[in-house]
Amino acid sequence: MCGIVGFTGHHQAAPILLEALSKLEYRGYDSAGVAVRDGEKPTEVVKATGKLINLSQKIDGGRTLHGCCGIGHTRWATHGEPSEVNAHPHVSGNCSGTGSGQVESEVVAVHNGIIENYQELSEKLQKNGYRFYSRTDSEVVVKLIDYYYRKYKMGPIDAINRTLVRVRGTYALCVMFKDYPDEIYVARKDAPIIVGTAEGESYVASDVPAILSYTRKVYYIDNLELARIAPGEVHFYDLNGDEVEKEPVDVPFSEEAARKDGFEHFMMKEIHEQPKVVRDTLHSVVKDGKIALEIPDDVLENIEQLYIVACGSAYHAGMVGQYVIEDLAGVPVRVELASEFRYRKMKLNKKALVVVISQSGETADTLAALRLAKEKGLPVAAIVNVVGSSIAREADYVFYTVAGPEIAVATTKAYSAQLISMYILAIKLALLNHSIDDAAPLLSELETLPSKIEEILKEKERIQWFAAKFAHIRDAFFLGRGIDYAASMEGSLKMKEISYIHSESYAAGEMKHGTISLIEDQTLVIGINTQKELFEKTLSNLVETRSRGAYIAAITQSGCYSIEDNVNFTVYIPRINELFSASLTVIPMQLLGYYMAVARGLDVDKPRNLAKSVTVE
Ligand code: F6R
Repeated sequence: MCGIVGFTGHHQAAPILLEALSKLEYRGYDSAGVAVRDGEKPTEVVKATGKLINLSQKIDGGRTLHGCCGIGHTRWATHGEPSEVNAHPHVSGNCSGTGSGQVESEVVAVHNGIIENYQELSEKLQKNGYRFYSRTDSEVVVKLIDYYYRKYKMGPIDAINRTLVRVRGTYALCVMFKDYPDEIYVARKDAPIIVGTAEGESYVASDVPAILSYTRKVYYIDNLELARIAPGEVHFYDLNGDEVEKEPVDVPFSEEAARKDGFEHFMMKEIHEQPKVVRDTLHSVVKDGKIALEIPDDVLENIEQLYIVACGSAYHAGMVGQYVIEDLAGVPVRVELASEFRYRKMKLNKKALVVVISQSGETADTLAALRLAKEKGLPVAAIVNVVGSSIAREADYVFYTVAGPEIAVATTKAYSAQLISMYILAIKLALLNHSIDDAAPLLSELETLPSKIEEILKEKERIQWFAAKFAHIRDAFFLGRGIDYAASMEGSLKMKEISYIHSESYAAGEMKHGTISLIEDQTLVIGINTQKELFEKTLSNLVETRSRGAYIAAITQSGCYSIEDNVNFTVYIPRINELFSASLTVIPMQLLGYYMAVARGLDVDKPRNLAKSVTVE
């Protein structure tokens, strides 16, 4: 949801801002803009609609803008349609036209998040003579900062603090003041933003990969904290304006981890990283055959119920986890969509553990669900990929997935790492419950996953051929039972979100209760069928759709060759304990979504309307 960057130092700011924004484009790409300052001269604001390349061309890769201090933004529209006038940066003064050009305004800022009470604030400001040129909530914040700055004349920290107390909502803000030519002010509440420093230079970004080529020393800003950034130095303040001490953190991954490494798209690179990610996540918690989690044994031992709460693919990982945990450990599990959980008035079991799952650690609904669970007195464990993210910081216990930076908007490797965390949690609970005595056979089975994923990846040309053949279709159905059904949810999402083909995942046995009427001649049905006990039943459901004209592609375990008599196309995964099959069946489904999108000529890494980190409700 929008990417923010800032730079102040001794180099020209514009090229640095553009490069940093290019690493954040996955967060939003409806429009982009930069504001650059050259000492006391008026601030130059340039904005462009569409992808970042349009902005870059407008300022010749940054060469036409002079100045060593600046801020930038790539937008995912919430209030106000994508347009140049609504693009950021926004300015406190009245401006005509699109808002690009030289501005004399006192305050210039970029914002990520949503200001809920912007209408009420806008009315107050209008009564005080302010006029608005855009339709964004962000312009309201900029003007409110300006209002307090002029009214109390107590400097930027005071003006921003007064503003933060008045606004309701979420924000990460990067602000420049006319009177402080080489400084940038940053504030956050429930939207990510980090600060980095290197020799005489300072950087701001929504996410670490944006500034990795300049520094690996970063500071995480807490909620309702502010930072004042000058070349090579940064100071933090609380809401009272008192200075707060903070230590920088060394980022544990390198810039190369955030590059494409010769792959055409980040998504394909990340699909290929899955063997490593699975191995790294496994080895981060399994040492010498023992599972060591941050969640204490006595918390896990005494639970009667597990609530898994997440959004999107993370929710799908939780769905797989539900089957595996219930089967292995016998603990009842409810998997809840965070956006529903937070408003449901359900009675929660007091002896429950809440597990939230999130790659970014910033998803607004998941964060709100975590807070609600804590308010109700339940312990919360978070399965998170981004170190130091809001969810990681607020949870009682953290289980970090070790997927590294995930850049493609559609998740692949983080989902695979989340599955591993679900299996580990299941095995740990099963040991503590005495439903199993020995984890070794299950852990050795998990050790085989990386090489089995590699085997599937070697066959990717076959999926590519299949995808090219079906790239024209309008609808697809993903069917399965049990764990295969949970895995099919992720397969279906992968296809629809990047190829824009309508697809649905359905519990295979449920089709005949209505949805089967959608099956027509040549409708594509992907049947996932890896569970021995359910094999015949799922197969019958697939045959039911085939006899109504469907074309069936099946994904099954190697050795189940009889399936070929009943389906049109088969993909075999290497044999694996059925409990862990989702880690293998998902691979051909990810490839299918990817190749379908490529065959349709779509922007795989930046699907329309989506953003990587959903920090709004
Ligand atoms: C789909 C996808 C999304 C995310 C969801 C939750 O490919 O990536 O569905 O899984 O937005 O995001 P996180 O895991 O960051 O909370």
